[in-house]
Amino acid sequence: MKIAVLKEAADEPRCAAIPETVKKFIALGANVAVERGAGSSASIADQDFADAGATLAARKDAVKGADIILAINAPDPASLAGAKSGAILVGGLNPLHEQTAIKAYAKAGIEALAMEWMPRLTRAQSMDILSSQSNLSGYKAVVDAAAVYGRAFPMMMTAAGTISPAKLFVMGVGVAGLQAIATGRRLGAQVSATDVRSATKEQIMSLGAKPIFVEQVAGIEGEGAGGYATEMSKEYQAAQAELVSGHIAKQDIVITTALIPGRSAPRLISDQQLATMRPGSVIVDLAAEAGGNVEGTISGKTVVKHGVSIIGAMQLSRTLAADSSALFARNLYNFLAAFWDQDKGGLVLPDDDEIVAAIRLTKDGKLVSDRLAAA
Ligand code: NAI
Repeated sequence: MKIAVLKEAADEPRCAAIPETVKKFIALGANVAVERGAGSSASIADQDFADAGATLAARKDAVKGADIILAINAPDPASLAGAKSGAILVGGLNPLHEQTAIKAYAKAGIEALAMEWMPRLTRAQSMDILSSQSNLSGYKAVVDAAAVYGRAFPMMMTAAGTISPAKLFVMGVGVAGLQAIATGRRLGAQVSATDVRSATKEQIMSLGAKPIFVEQVAGIEGEGAGGYATEMSKEYQAAQAELVSGHIAKQDIVITTALIPGRSAPRLISDQQLATMRPGSVIVDLAAEAGGNVEGTISGKTVVKHGVSIIGAMQLSRTLAADSSALFARNLYNFLAAFWDQDKGGLVLPDDDEIVAAIRLTKDGKLVSDRLAAA
């Protein structure tokens, strides 16, 4: 069984394998070929991969005869020529945006598996790239906010006077939001947080932050399929806007992470609300790529409005490439190891398995994903 690890495009510093996962694949009985330079932006030298037992090769030779291809993003289909017929390509394939590439994989007989469509099952937690990457993004959002904020986070009592602690508000308490709360607390900020899912209230308190919740709006749990949020009623949205208006004017740092699967990001902060914030405040909008939670967010840019810096954060996990690669690579290993059949010496992906059905995009020359077909 040959596993190929691709070097990503120039704007992607992460790598889909690390020496640790290479060793583990070899222990399963596989050969691993790593494209030269694949780990260089994630602080992994070719020699580290070689020491772990991998062969280093150009893309063409790495892919030649491969049974499994590991990637962070969807690779150019033409560059996979030479892989075995029926070879499995697994990575963050961004299926809704990469439909042309996915059709080309099908045509080339490649079986493509999109890791971001991993279902939220207990047994799939260790394979979940969205969680592993969001966790790092939540951390980095706070660190980036601290770098732009012209004041300190912790309270400091000095001979020259007292510095008051920063007030940090997290909107959207999923994986990224929880890590943003924890990081803000570690840096000494006074942290509060809100979400539409009532289950998050306890999680916020357990991290030592203050929950800010819409109460008294009937019939709302905010939790839809798979533990994700649903779109809220007009009544709820109005109550939330009022609550946020009162709270936000007193905040120094706001981290927004609110997403609703399959929809654009909910608008949580209006320009009017922004204008009530103290000049020098900082907002990091982690939902920027999905349209942003903040009016005026520009994805990939920092804009200043009413004296408030709005950072339109994009793919923050990329800025921690060594750690994000390690977690991504382990997600891939955990997935492949769970479906590895020692007797057959390779992968067995049953059609009726819930994980396989959710992430498989193409098989036997056809598109087989219901989710992709419905898009
Ligand atoms: P996400 O990235 O889809 O959304 C981020 C947060 O924004 C969510 O907490 C959501 O409720 C919140 N949100 C949406 N609309 C909002 C609004 N209008 N106002 C305020 N907040 C709003 O969420 P993520 O991080 O993917 O996690 C969703 C859930 O899935 C969590 O409960 C998480 O613990 C769970 N999960 C379960 C896994 C498993 O069992 N394998 C793996 C990862 C997450």
